[in-house]
Amino acid sequence: MPPVAYIQDIAQFDGQDVTLRGWLHNRRSSGKIHFLIVRDGTGFIQVVMSKADIGEELFARADHLSQETAIIVTGRVRADARAKGGYELTGTGFTVVGDSVDYPITPKEHGVDYLMDRRHLWIRSQRQQSVLRVRHEIIDAVRDFFNSRGFILADTPIFTPSACEGTTTLFPVQYFEDTTAYLTQSGQLYNEANAMALGKVYAFGPTFRAEKSKTRRHLTEFWMVEPEVAYATLDDTMDLAEQLVESVVARVLDKRRPELAQLERDTSKLETVTTPFPRISYTEAIERLKGAGMPVEWGGDFGGTDETVLSGQFDRPVLVHRYPAAVKAFYMKPDPAQLDLALCVDMLAPEGYGEIIGGGQRLDDYDLLLQRIKDHDLPQEAFEWYLDLRRFGSVPHAGFGMGIERVVAWICGLEHVRETIPYPRMLYRLYP
Ligand code: 4AD
Ligand code: MG
Repeated sequence: MPPVAYIQDIAQFDGQDVTLRGWLHNRRSSGKIHFLIVRDGTGFIQVVMSKADIGEELFARADHLSQETAIIVTGRVRADARAKGGYELTGTGFTVVGDSVDYPITPKEHGVDYLMDRRHLWIRSQRQQSVLRVRHEIIDAVRDFFNSRGFILADTPIFTPSACEGTTTLFPVQYFEDTTAYLTQSGQLYNEANAMALGKVYAFGPTFRAEKSKTRRHLTEFWMVEPEVAYATLDDTMDLAEQLVESVVARVLDKRRPELAQLERDTSKLETVTTPFPRISYTEAIERLKGAGMPVEWGGDFGGTDETVLSGQFDRPVLVHRYPAAVKAFYMKPDPAQLDLALCVDMLAPEGYGEIIGGGQRLDDYDLLLQRIKDHDLPQEAFEWYLDLRRFGSVPHAGFGMGIERVVAWICGLEHVRETIPYPRMLYRLYP
């Protein structure tokens, strides 16, 4: 058999015979020629099989190949300007490795629920593959960004004894006989401890929220990257956040143009994502929303529509800082210039994709932190270790969390976050 090639490397084999190992994506036939679209996970290619090249018997068999049959195909690579990807294969033979009878996802339109129930097969489609490749690129870019800046990846636990982001959104799990643990909502608190040890750290892992939000932006299990930096301020963390997002977008534009084109993403909307990003205070945001006719009052948190209206006023992500402390988590440092404001920041993506980053400067004062823990009715015992960080060498520090799925949805231009992760977990959906 000729050498095995991957479709993504096919240009290197121009004019040569190769073996492709993959699946039949689609087939068209005329009387004397079969056109097979074969995919191997790295790409798609058309294989042209004529009776003259493969003989009567194989030709007749090819007429019965069905969608998603696993096949090994041999053929000669031929450059063809008309072909998608620039190359075709002139088929010389094939063998069937695994049959596929009545594959349930056909080229016709299916409803979303139907597809979600078959997510394990749906991911084979070209569109879903493109999304998952962009996701991979985003994650790779995030890691490169932090690694190249001297951050240490320090993982934080998933089983935790207590809440980070508020007690209403926790998933409890039985932890041996008589203990309840909770799936983490954020690695932040441990990240703070790690930053006191290692200076600049990041955590990257799955996080869990039990909030009953059935929106296009909410998953119950999602991936968050969380940097935390000792001696950093709110301004430092805003700088870091915008640099991260700029570099992630640039990387996808550089490496994943074909996927973005396949997704019909208007990339001109991504080309504008360069620093500096606009920065507005919460108070200014409220004024802008009122100006746009939204029924908002100073003091409340923003809803999805508010975020959409606000971000619609800018051609790149906008940083909204200094929300009222009352609508934010217990660990936020108050603004010394106005104590009812928190030194926090949210980054809102353009085009209505909502909040992609939340973070800020942390409370570093022992007494005030203890007071906040009490005010929020949090169990003090569970936070003694966290209070230790303020007992032993407390310093100003700041960080943020970026939700990967929301970033994927925005960069790919997707309606809903459910397509941004291989197996989405949402309110009342735990299958497949
Ligand atoms: O704003 P959040 O809740 O911030 C934190 O958890 C901080 N402790 C992070 C930190 O400072 N280290 O969540 C951070 C980001 C949001 O901006 C959003 O992108 C994403 O996580 N996110 C979700 N993504 C999908 N589904 C959900 N239910 C999400 N909740 C938050
Ligand atoms: Mg938030």
